[in-house]
Amino acid sequence: MAVYAITGGAGFIGSHLADDLLADGHHVRVLDDLSTGRRSQVDSRSDLIVADVCDTAALARLLDGADAVFHLAAIASVIRSNEDWIGTNRVNLGGTVAVLEVARRAGGIPVVYASSAAIYGNQPGPADEALTPAPRSAYGADKFGSEMHAGIAFSVHAVPTFGVRFFNVYGPRQDPRSPYSGVISIFAERIAHQERLVIHGDGRQLRDFVYVDDAVRHLRAGLRLLQDAPRAAVVNVCTGSGTSILELARTIGQISGKRPDIEFAPAREGDIRLSIGDPARARALLGISANTSLQDGLAATLASKLPIAV
Ligand SMILES: NC(=O)c1ccc[n+]([C@@H]2O[C@H](COP(=O)([O-])OP(=O)(O)OC[C@H]3O[C@@H](n4cnc5c(N)ncnc54)[C@H](O)[C@@H]3O)[C@@H](O)[C@H]2O)c1
Repeated sequence: MAVYAITGGAGFIGSHLADDLLADGHHVRVLDDLSTGRRSQVDSRSDLIVADVCDTAALARLLDGADAVFHLAAIASVIRSNEDWIGTNRVNLGGTVAVLEVARRAGGIPVVYASSAAIYGNQPGPADEALTPAPRSAYGADKFGSEMHAGIAFSVHAVPTFGVRFFNVYGPRQDPRSPYSGVISIFAERIAHQERLVIHGDGRQLRDFVYVDDAVRHLRAGLRLLQDAPRAAVVNVCTGSGTSILELARTIGQISGKRPDIEFAPAREGDIRLSIGDPARARALLGISANTSLQDGLAATLASKLPIAV
């Protein structure tokens, strides 16, 4: 049995990771300020520290005797990052540096952390890790900054780090307010109540939807890689194929057995047309891929209880 620390472990991806680690008999410690995460999503077998991710004393308690830390706490909102630049920078970049520093003080505990497809900005085709990042939001810039500091953590302080650039992760417990895949919960809820769906723009914008179990497998495989050979690495977590928002609405309609009624609204300012990743590096380094089909992932998501009414 190992002891794993998770920042943001009361959130969407973090709570799925915690469940997976617990199911394998490990001990899980969660640090979360419960700002978007929920206490009800923290399994009673885990320890919960309610604290800010920049609080180094709380982080020291979280990491005391831990075998590794998964750092997922962040304010995962592009809109908020542009409105509250200083506040989100404190959490999204400052929080990462705090986790890396406490991992260093604890003797070089491996850190697996969430980066984001947002670091790529607008790209003409599938993004691979060799591309120069060009974030278009403070959120993306902070994720890119986190990767830079994670590189320093290894080269200067010998703290092994593994960054996962998540594309649009979806699954049960998805918060409809999530800027990534909240659209799935919203569409599902509206279709169930025979309400009209509102699509911004022409609905042909493409996203790379990754089922949450696949995201968890990448996080755990990233840690195994660090344990085999310490390093600083970053990979995309994506399927490599794009789904348009229109196609998404139709697929949810098919699974629900209801035909969606769609209304088009003006495109949102700064909406990215295409966000698709190239999964080759993850496959080569980790030997796995995000292979849950959209059909299966959506069916599992719709079969689960939505966290809050929309
Ligand atoms: N969901 C996606 O598709 C996606 C895509 C790219 C990157 N990510 C990244 O993955 C990670 C997890 O995202 P998620 O979708 O589970 O989001 P989430 O909002 O469900 O989880 C984030 C967790 O961090 C906690 N948190 C926020 N600020 C905190 C603070 N100051 N101190 C302590 N805890 C704090 C929240 O309460 C929440 O439980 C984030 O780093 C996010 O940026 C997610």
